[in-house]
Amino acid sequence: MKIAVLPGDGIGPEIIAQAVRVLEWLKRDGLPLRWQQAPAGGAGYDAAGDPLPPDTLRLAREADAILFGSVGGVQYDNLPRPKRPEQGLLRLRQELGLFANLRPALLYPELVGASTLKPEVVSGLDILILRELTGDIYFGQPRGIREQGGERQGFDTMLYSESEIRRIARVGFEAAMGRSRRLCSVDKANVLETSMLWREVVTEVAKEYPQVELSHMYVDNAAMQLVRNPKQFDVIVTGNIFGDILSDEASMLTGSIGMLPSASLDAAGKGLYEPIHGSAPDIAGKDLANPLATILSLAMMLRYTFRREEMARRIEDGVRRVLAQGYRTADIWEPGLKKVGTVQMGDAVVAALAG
Ligand code: IPM
Ligand code: MG
Repeated sequence: MKIAVLPGDGIGPEIIAQAVRVLEWLKRDGLPLRWQQAPAGGAGYDAAGDPLPPDTLRLAREADAILFGSVGGVQYDNLPRPKRPEQGLLRLRQELGLFANLRPALLYPELVGASTLKPEVVSGLDILILRELTGDIYFGQPRGIREQGGERQGFDTMLYSESEIRRIARVGFEAAMGRSRRLCSVDKANVLETSMLWREVVTEVAKEYPQVELSHMYVDNAAMQLVRNPKQFDVIVTGNIFGDILSDEASMLTGSIGMLPSASLDAAGKGLYEPIHGSAPDIAGKDLANPLATILSLAMMLRYTFRREEMARRIEDGVRRVLAQGYRTADIWEPGLKKVGTVQMGDAVVAALAG
């Protein structure tokens, strides 16, 4: 079990340090884990002038799984696009073919009061957003900034080929089969050609899964429905840009973006595991960040890449236990509960695992 650990920037190193403590615990408990760290994002640029240095890419390729922190920071905002931290992550996703991004939004009962939405709207929430991750307007060519009629013009290309749509749709139907057998495909087929093809292909794939009830929704409506009545959804499958936006929105249903893990998988189950939140430069280095999304990402790694469901559950139960014990980082804290920092939250999780 070889893991490449890429902490990245901002709060990345702090939250990864807590997840590594969980790795150490798992190793002591008998899992044959090995891991190695490498710089990525702004840290990669600082170390080697490249947000995805060749050595980091090699390590990631050779590993069975990648544990990723977060990338980005104001000091890198004015770099040319290929040097920007985000490009390191995007290239890693593309180079490794990590096309299926699983973003579960699960509300722990203890956090029902931490959400900005009414308890009755969010309690019991358990949805899965499946985001296509290696296509769409993120990667479509041509793109750029050009001169046109005496002024500059920026342009990008939204693009999906049939095979890309088909393979992510299949992952969506399979996920639905393992859950409540309902799949909602989100697009903008009333306006975009790309979405018209998306809807057609998803509908074709549905014939292979007669047990799954497929519905379609326009992305603007989906954004509204997610805050109006999120529990109507079970599995949502959508393209890269819509999934980026909807998954941030869905995170707030669960109390804090600091709680949500993700898995980005290739066709063989190799995966990159990362919290869905960003590098939060404003709180970096202050022992304020919530490490739970990263620790829960590790649980997803055990489930999807290493097929150790019982270990994944142990970690998730450990997180549940520390929440039940009242430990809260600032992002999920409510009066009357124990406010802790990043390291203390890690302490609490490790203690819960050992206990
Ligand atoms: C995410 C992030 C990334 C994305 C950025 C950091 C490139 O927002 O993982 O959702 O847009 O995919
Ligand atoms: Mg995002």
